[in-house]
Amino acid sequence: MLPMALSMKPTGWFQIGWSADLEAGDVTPLRYFGHDLVAYRTQNGRLVVLNAYCEHLGAHLGHGGSVSGDDIACPFHGWQWSPEGRNTCIPYQKTTNRVRKIGTWPITERDGIMYIWHNVDGGAPLYDVPSIFDLFPGSGSASDYHELGEAGRFATAELPIHPQYAAENGVDFAHFKYVHRADEIPTVVHREFGEYDFKTELALNFKRRGADGEFETVAGRTKAALLGLGLGFSYADGVGAICSLTAVTPVDDERSILRFSTWASKEDGEDESRVIKRQRNAIGQVQADIAIWEHQRYTEPPGLATAEAAASATSASGLATSTPRPPRPRRRRADRRDR
Ligand code: FES
Ligand SMILES: [Fe+2]
Repeated sequence: MLPMALSMKPTGWFQIGWSADLEAGDVTPLRYFGHDLVAYRTQNGRLVVLNAYCEHLGAHLGHGGSVSGDDIACPFHGWQWSPEGRNTCIPYQKTTNRVRKIGTWPITERDGIMYIWHNVDGGAPLYDVPSIFDLFPGSGSASDYHELGEAGRFATAELPIHPQYAAENGVDFAHFKYVHRADEIPTVVHREFGEYDFKTELALNFKRRGADGEFETVAGRTKAALLGLGLGFSYADGVGAICSLTAVTPVDDERSILRFSTWASKEDGEDESRVIKRQRNAIGQVQADIAIWEHQRYTEPPGLATAEAAASATSASGLATSTPRPPRPRRRRADRRDR
């Protein structure tokens, strides 16, 4: 396996799963950024992520731990730990251990997605994760879309994919023709650089069969919003709208898990099988990307075509004071917040 050219410890929010998969009282082991973690949901529905190992004798709380109210109980000797990592109970003595504390991780949940904040320096979150339905003007609200459901979700095994690959994808206009089988190469019609986000809009015409049976050309738009390096949101409108999230979360220094979530718009007269087909089509598109990414070697500097180099230069000047720095960050820049 090729070593990763970029650090696998970027700062930002990263998806760790789907909210529906962790119900009140559930406990699960996780491993991200080289850390063993435990996630649990309190009886009141609060998501908690802690470092995995009990501060008594080191049992892994994710393997056999149980939820007790707001706390998690260790399977080894029953010590209990709060969402803040404090010891709240030693079952066989009256006092608790006030010295030892388990490390905690900032979490948030939006649109049925569970996120953790990662910063190797331990710094607090620098920005929030918005709802995908608030990101793109004109995309409508959550009530205009079907629930995510199983058919709208896809996750890979652990693969040698860096979050940077997915981050660059939205501005790699040429690959749409070759990887996604678009009839033509799309045009970048808008770019917008924020402090922690980067938005683009692509115009791409596609063909569909009209009511008279003849093919007609429809102007399609794809909007993308990259938030940090871990989260790529998009909104595509053509025959029905699709909102999607491509989320890449490093597991360790070599591998990541990629998760894809896709919400299909509610369209008049559309039955469930058609909705699922639209979701599956979207998943098929990201799977086509993954087939490239899992064998890709990050090339720095890249050998860009003239138009790509021009776009890259524009992006670089626009992001002189911003992070991250898509579409083509220099290695030291991309790593600058790493430990
Ligand atoms: S190791 Fe957790 S209570 Fe003993
Ligand atoms: Fe792609």
